Amino acid sequence: MLEFTEQPQPNEEAIKPREIIKALTPQEIIDEQEYVRTGLEAMRNYDQITYEHMLAVADLISEIWKKIGLSAKEASMLMEAGLVHDMGKTNIDQGILFKKGELTDEDWEEVKTHSHQSAKIARENDRDLIAKIVAAHHDHGRSKSAHRINENKIYELMIPERRKIDQQSDKLSNILAIVDNFEGLRSERHYKTSLPLEEVEKILLEKFPTAEDLRVIEALMELHD
Ligand SMILES: [Fe+2]
Ligand SMILES: [Fe+2]
Repeated sequence: MLEFTEQPQPNEEAIKPREIIKALTPQEIIDEQEYVRTGLEAMRNYDQITYEHMLAVADLISEIWKKIGLSAKEASMLMEAGLVHDMGKTNIDQGILFKKGELTDEDWEEVKTHSHQSAKIARENDRDLIAKIVAAHHDHGRSKSAHRINENKIYELMIPERRKIDQQSDKLSNILAIVDNFEGLRSERHYKTSLPLEEVEKILLEKFPTAEDLRVIEALMELHD
């Protein structure tokens, strides 16, 4: 007589795709990546505000990545980019960074190199995708031209990331730009007060007008509902 043996139930663990489903936390990234840790320590001593800003940007990304449809891997990459995106400011004179009053055109040219300096730090640590995301973090939205670095300067700094931007790094760097702006507008600084949420939303919608941008902006707004 034919015997029916009970089929073993597939173990749920075993049938899960081998894709990483859990994103790292900003703290795990700091613990895992030495260059992130040492860079943040250097920044804390050089410019406390930028240090806190980079941590805050990474935290915001950790809160919205699922809502905006990123994979865990993309989220981890983007958080790492958030933790290092302004690190290049440690190469910018403190006299310019903390200047009271208007910056001169020359000062601005100097400040604008920070995204490329940050990218350089990531690239020197073999984090090429992070370097690409970071290099372009001021190249998105409507006022991007204001932050455009002089093309000659790119060659002078020998920064290849700008020319290597692909669809994925462009998408991630655009999200970083929105979160970066949001954090900057919402936080209190010695030279400005924090803007009300409705005002921040209006500014972001004007500056970042696409449907994908809207999804990111809404996710950020919902954090405060
Ligand atoms: Fe920046
Ligand atoms: Fe920033």
